[in-house]
Amino acid sequence: MNTPHQTATAIPRTEDPAYDLDGWRRQIPLLDAFIPLNNCSQAPQTHRTRAAAEAYLDSWNRDGMDWETWMEEVHRARAEFARLINASPDEVAVTTSVSAATASLASALNFTGRRTKVVATEAEFPTVGHVWLAHQKYGARLAWVPVRDGVVDLEAYDGVIDDETQIVSACHGYYQNGFKQDLAAIAEKTHAHGAWLYVDAYQTLGTCPVDVKALDIDFLSSGTLKYLMGTPGIAFLYVRQALIERLHPAVTGWFGRANPFAFQIKTLDWAPTANRFDTGTPPVISAYVARAGLSIINEIGPANIQAWTDRLSQRLIDGALARGLSIDGTTDIQQKTPSTAFVCPGDSHTVEAGLRERGILASARGPVIRLAPHFYNTLEEIDGALDVLAEVLERET
Ligand SMILES: Cc1ncc(COP(=O)(O)O)c(C=O)c1O
Repeated sequence: MNTPHQTATAIPRTEDPAYDLDGWRRQIPLLDAFIPLNNCSQAPQTHRTRAAAEAYLDSWNRDGMDWETWMEEVHRARAEFARLINASPDEVAVTTSVSAATASLASALNFTGRRTKVVATEAEFPTVGHVWLAHQKYGARLAWVPVRDGVVDLEAYDGVIDDETQIVSACHGYYQNGFKQDLAAIAEKTHAHGAWLYVDAYQTLGTCPVDVKALDIDFLSSGTLKYLMGTPGIAFLYVRQALIERLHPAVTGWFGRANPFAFQIKTLDWAPTANRFDTGTPPVISAYVARAGLSIINEIGPANIQAWTDRLSQRLIDGALARGLSIDGTTDIQQKTPSTAFVCPGDSHTVEAGLRERGILASARGPVIRLAPHFYNTLEEIDGALDVLAEVLERET
């Protein structure tokens, strides 16, 4: 019997994006066995990212160590990330996770003055909420912007942000169901009260243009293993140029110094750039992979990716509604990442396993199963995956 994947590839494609879809699909060996629709969790390996990891392993094996080249590669990853968000490389710190990036940022804030309030949405990934909660012991007061019916209404920020607010912590995409926030509007509300805006963009970078200057964002973080085609182990923190020299993170280390190789144990000289948010020895192998993954996104272009993933999302939503599936959150693709969440009557992890058995990679999260296409997927794969999802969900009820 054909797997859904074989069936889907056997169907002639009716539509293609504005880039060489077949060329990019040839970069992804996993497509021979699966339809990967789990990009909100982990994007597939490409020949390019694998070659990057091997370049590091080869260098290590051949030369023993080559810190100059390795650090250059970390810098190139930083620069590739900066290019993606329209920042300068000097405004980007290299960290190891969004948790670490958020902790560094939080540790640079002062919760003893008038502005002790942190406003965070209930749509934040729990790790971000945990960091803010942990800073209550330093005087931070947390106020939550609610999630209602799977979305955060813009009006819900009103009255929560006030003149005692130091920072607003707003994710771009909600990990649970793909709801996407209007960052320009949130920035305006935040700055109207003299507060700063911190954005966790892990669920959107790689799927749409994000221009930190145009959106007027103060801080932004993301890892690379979702739509940025990378691996665990590395994340980036953008810090607006004008704020860098005002901030002194207590989560620090020798790579945050003006000259890490001065080895001055009693001197805390801060790097003049966002490097001051770097801490210890950087994640070199992850940086090799991150640069390669980011280069794919920059090469195709986030706007081209958005045009195609919007098309795939619309097909997913229309097809789901036609099959009577229940969607969590909004069905308006203008307000969505490529991730769509379906309510599971039973255990979502059983549904994930059932889909995997049938050649489809999806991602369970609490009560929902998420299908999250990316630039390399086809409309026919969406149709095939929906057929299987409807069958698996039916079996589970
Ligand atoms: C929006 C978002 N933020 C943060 C994380 C996790 O961050 P960390 O890099 O700390 O594991 C995830 C998912 O794993 C996420 O979806």
